[in-house]
Amino acid sequence: MISVKPIPRELTYDIRHAVLREGLPRESCYWDTDTLPGAFHLGGWLEGRQAGVATFQPEADPDEPDVPAYRLRGMAVLPDARGCGVGALMLLSGEDRVRQTGITRLWCDARIGAVGFYRKHGWESVGEAYDIPTAGLHCRMKKKLAAAGCRAGEGDTV
Ligand SMILES: CC(C)(COP(=O)(O)OP(=O)(O)OC[C@H]1O[C@@H](n2cnc3c(N)ncnc32)[C@H](O)[C@@H]1OP(=O)(O)O)[C@@H](O)C(=O)NCCC(=O)NCCS
Repeated sequence: MISVKPIPRELTYDIRHAVLREGLPRESCYWDTDTLPGAFHLGGWLEGRQAGVATFQPEADPDEPDVPAYRLRGMAVLPDARGCGVGALMLLSGEDRVRQTGITRLWCDARIGAVGFYRKHGWESVGEAYDIPTAGLHCRMKKKLAAAGCRAGEGDTV
């Protein structure tokens, strides 16, 4: 069974470190923005084991600085748990939670290898790919959410 629930930021660090900051100091997983008012962290569980993390933080899209938006950061699923739906359930749950705030704009800087995952869920890439020295090629991606109430909510468990 897969489930997703909000978690404290401390429960994001192990998986962030293993998947997104491997070989870097653990402190590289502590982000100042983790405690922004309105920021939330989701954990994904697969068969009783925490297998994924994702963080959603209020932050305007640099292309539209005056429009309220959420930024998705730190989306990661442990290698041996991929392909089971954990990432998708965290993404859909996070989108629903953002929608409930009344904000309908989401963006992220996606690793190039994850672009297909986001596209599958209605995100669009914008602009050219660019390199982040510690993390490789990335692509800006965005999604406009339907306003709250316009769509049946996704559950947090499958
Ligand atoms: C990207 C990532 C979060 C996806 O998590 P996951 O749990 O494996 O994804 P899911 O099993 O929920 O996949 C959902 C769907 O997306 C597809 N998908 C998953 N990863 C994909 C990828 N990299 N490219 C294209 N499609 C992908 C799956 O095939 C599945 O399709 P289906 O619904 O037709 O079966 C995970 O692979 C990961 O942590 N990757 C390494 C870190 C990373 O790149 N994070 C993103 C940073 S921006």
